[in-house]
Amino acid sequence: MNTLNIDLGEEVGLIGDVHGNLPFLIEAIFQLEARGAASLVQLGDFGMLWDGSAHERAGLSTLNKVLRAMDKDLVVILGNHENYTMVNTVEPAADKSRTIGRVVILPRAGRLRAGKKSVGFLSGAGSVDRSSRRPRRSWWPDELPTEEEPQDLVDDLAPRVNILLAHDALRGPALKNRLASSRNLWNANDLAYAEAASDVFTARATAVLSDGGLVLSGHYHFRHTANEMFTRPGKTGAPIWLRSEILSAEWDEGAVGVLDTRTLAVQTWSIDQAAARIGYDALTTRTE
Ligand SMILES: [Fe+2]
Repeated sequence: MNTLNIDLGEEVGLIGDVHGNLPFLIEAIFQLEARGAASLVQLGDFGMLWDGSAHERAGLSTLNKVLRAMDKDLVVILGNHENYTMVNTVEPAADKSRTIGRVVILPRAGRLRAGKKSVGFLSGAGSVDRSSRRPRRSWWPDELPTEEEPQDLVDDLAPRVNILLAHDALRGPALKNRLASSRNLWNANDLAYAEAASDVFTARATAVLSDGGLVLSGHYHFRHTANEMFTRPGKTGAPIWLRSEILSAEWDEGAVGVLDTRTLAVQTWSIDQAAARIGYDALTTRTE
């Protein structure tokens, strides 16, 4: 197991898929700060380490200026659309996290705290458009954890966690139903690959979460909430109830939110694109 010395506090700021969209990310951070969030968690497809360009480096520098001014870290759980070659060039600390200024990229799996709640995290997801991407140019096999990496989270001898932060989501009946109409859009092999990865994620989540636990996710680019019964893996196959809260991406409805860890309530909203652009232009004109 790998327990990081991080406490996200009682009110956790949540940010859905960013895909390198800095105006969205910065506006989301400003709004979460204004709402009094104790911490900032980005739920994968961060995309701010993608092409290594001067433009991208300037963006990371602007992001760090904002985080330093607020004295906040941005805690990132990696998704599937990340350049893992670039991520791996950042030297990991003893706890396997990677830090770029105030951006803390969590390792593949592990545990931390949020107020009185125990929290697990598990990064990555399977790309359903894998065959349309170029290996190690726009798709990396590292998008999925190895067999060993989740052992930093899933431990039969350790107490279960209340909350799981992830990029992929619980593949329950409501999510399957919602995705059913788009299944014919994808290459059959890609679809089988992504769905199998999501089933493996779901098995790991059901093994590590306590009954009534909550999974916070990105990846699907829509806002989704479901409270469903799952079966724990193993011989006993005990039924447990888990809640899934998926945040959307960038400018879509429900891409930003706050988790109250005392009640496990999640409140989400969306970021107005025009307002974010005006704020971002004012910020970059000031800081450049
Ligand atoms: Fe995404």
